[in-house]
Amino acid sequence: MNLLVTGGCGFIGTNFIRYLLNNSDFTGRIINVDRLTYAGNPENLADIEKMFPDHYTFVQADICDPEKMTGIFDDHDIDTVCHFAAESHVDRSIVSPDDFIKTNIIGTFNLLETSRNRKNRLARFHHISTDEVYGSLGKDGYFVETTPYQPSSPYSASKASSDHLVRAYHTTYNLPVTLSNCSNNYGPYQFPEKLIPLMILNALEGKPLPVYGDGKNVRDWLYVDDHCSAIWKIIRHGKEGETYNVGGDCELENIKLVEMICDAIDNRIGKDSDKSRKELITFVTDRPGHDQRYAIDASKIRNEIGWTPKTTIETGLDHTIKWYLDHMEWVDHVKSGEYQSWISKHYK
Ligand code: NAD
Ligand code: DAU
Repeated sequence: MNLLVTGGCGFIGTNFIRYLLNNSDFTGRIINVDRLTYAGNPENLADIEKMFPDHYTFVQADICDPEKMTGIFDDHDIDTVCHFAAESHVDRSIVSPDDFIKTNIIGTFNLLETSRNRKNRLARFHHISTDEVYGSLGKDGYFVETTPYQPSSPYSASKASSDHLVRAYHTTYNLPVTLSNCSNNYGPYQFPEKLIPLMILNALEGKPLPVYGDGKNVRDWLYVDDHCSAIWKIIRHGKEGETYNVGGDCELENIKLVEMICDAIDNRIGKDSDKSRKELITFVTDRPGHDQRYAIDASKIRNEIGWTPKTTIETGLDHTIKWYLDHMEWVDHVKSGEYQSWISKHYK
């Protein structure tokens, strides 16, 4: 397999490449194409680049650039695509949607066109999407694969648009696509703008923990390695043209999750001057258009492909907190933008 991974220097892409090369039966070649935006950090894979020179290649490129993409597909004889690259943070999309439209919609369109042009060589185009395309749930119910799309933010609207394009390329051109719509991931290498790493790092630094609104919004949390194993199963065993919802069976109100993080840190390294870190929790102005609840019904992937999440939230959180404590240099680089100078030294 000559596998093109887009966005492999981001959070989930990094974990996916590490999972394939360290913990799976993958024996092919990975070509990681990433533009290296603020969210992409090639340091995440510096050890992989050294350890697997015959199985891993990095190319800095923008998925919106048609000539570059055609060249990469040709040079590396790409037969499988796993498409992660995206602008991924909802709050950023509210402040500045432009890049979301460019990368998530035009970038996906461009990859689909490149794939269509070499359809006979392409065995699979797997598109990574989100449960946010379905909009918000009330107190009851779950998202299933046939739930109508009702995106709320520029981010989720751009992902919805890309999903429609991927399905249209299957229906119209018979492109061998699969899609997965997944709930909130957490784990190592997540950029500290997202809820869990932001709360861990603020709690460690004794800073306020900003909880939006009343903190009663619900998300379904999935440990990133479980997501990676789901994607790998879908690429190998998923049916062409099909969509699979992937979730963690772990619904939590934000406030409850933040309290769990505080308790887990207190237990691991002790309280700060005898004070629980829960005292740092601060309720702040709500996110505009904030979806109330997400919850995934993952019975299709469980019944048809035999995948279930393995990691409990307690284990996953503990592992994640330990990872951040052990990787403070990574955190410093990411926060100070030092890795941007690392990028210019190594790749420009
Ligand atoms: P991330 O923001 O951590 O990483 C995105 C990566 O894409 C970065 O490395 C960035 O440099 C790269 N990128 C951005 N624009 C690019 C472009 N034009 N060309 C090439 N590379 C570009 O995102 P993530 O959290 O790892 O999410 C990966 C995918 O999974 C996204 O498609 C996202 O919508 C989806 N998803 C994420 C979650 C989650 O909880 N994080 C849940 C469901 C689905
Ligand atoms: O559901 C899948 C989606 O999960 C992915 O498609 C997105 O790429 C990913 O960013 C994530 O989106 P969310 O908006 O759910 O994640 P975020 O970590 O930004 O926020 C999680 C919840 O926590 C949400 O209800 C908003 C709230 N929140 C977030 C931040 C950053 C806070 O209360 N305070 C905060 O500071």
